[in-house]
Amino acid sequence: MKNVSFFQLPPSGNRPSGVEKFLKRSLADLQLDYLDLYLIHTPFTFEDIEGDLHPVNENGEIKLDLTTNHLAVWAEMEKQVVAGRTRAIGVSNFNIAQLTKVLNFATVPVSNIQVELHLYFQQKELVEFCKKRGIAVTAYSPLGSRGFVELLGKTDVLPDLLSNPVVLEIAKKYNKSSAQIVLRHTLQKGVAAIPKSTNPKRIQQNINLFDFELESGEMEKLNNLDQGPKGRVCDFVSFFKGVAKHPEFPF
Ligand SMILES: NC(=O)c1ccc[n+]([C@@H]2O[C@H](COP(=O)([O-])OP(=O)(O)OC[C@H]3O[C@@H](n4cnc5c(N)ncnc54)[C@H](OP(=O)(O)O)[C@@H]3O)[C@@H](O)[C@H]2O)c1
Repeated sequence: MKNVSFFQLPPSGNRPSGVEKFLKRSLADLQLDYLDLYLIHTPFTFEDIEGDLHPVNENGEIKLDLTTNHLAVWAEMEKQVVAGRTRAIGVSNFNIAQLTKVLNFATVPVSNIQVELHLYFQQKELVEFCKKRGIAVTAYSPLGSRGFVELLGKTDVLPDLLSNPVVLEIAKKYNKSSAQIVLRHTLQKGVAAIPKSTNPKRIQQNINLFDFELESGEMEKLNNLDQGPKGRVCDFVSFFKGVAKHPEFPF
């Protein structure tokens, strides 16, 4: 675990004393003087054990630090902007109540929130809220994180959104891939997306989204595929046993 680089404040650093320490470590790993954006990765906190980012007890449960204080952490995040180590700051995986609390306290804007967001989990309420408050939303797992669904054995509950008939029909019309249609849908809703691919051709494809526009009827059809929280893939509970016991567990 020693060689893992973090460009968000990891759960084990989510305390006031962790902010500068982990950000400086990221800057050193990246060989940069500053970041453009630094996010608090999760609203919950793990114990900080050197060399073990996800420490577990004898029952395999994640070792939680229950003293999480978002406002105290945010104050330290703001200091990093003042010190020039990052230009902007934000959060990830926070729910609306947690975000509101930070917003009411912040003197440096919450520039961005990164959350799971895709066709089956469109986060309409959060997106609407952020639009009103001028916070940019970034969609992680924007293609539905198929590999992860398979790993969790949830393929029956969460069908592959890239094979959805509505998506396939629209893809055929524009001569685009399913991935391009779902990414374009997200962009047209004013949300940024960070698809991951290890395949150079797909990486190229996933950027090539700006030479077509979905019609309003098509947007509507895609909007209607939302399953709400049932569509969530990344629930954290599946890979951090016991994490839902944390008082700031967001879901
Ligand atoms: N903030 C957080 O808590 C958080 C949590 C989870 C993920 N993330 C971030 O979100 C990013 C993406 O999430 P993700 O990897 O979970 O899910 P994703 O981007 O929805 O899906 C990635 C999967 O889609 C495949 N894929 C990519 N482009 C494709 C295309 N054009 N056609 C067909 N398949 C395609 C990839 O396979 P190939 O590699 O074979 O192309 C990979 O299996 C990652 O960078 C990750 O760091 C953030």
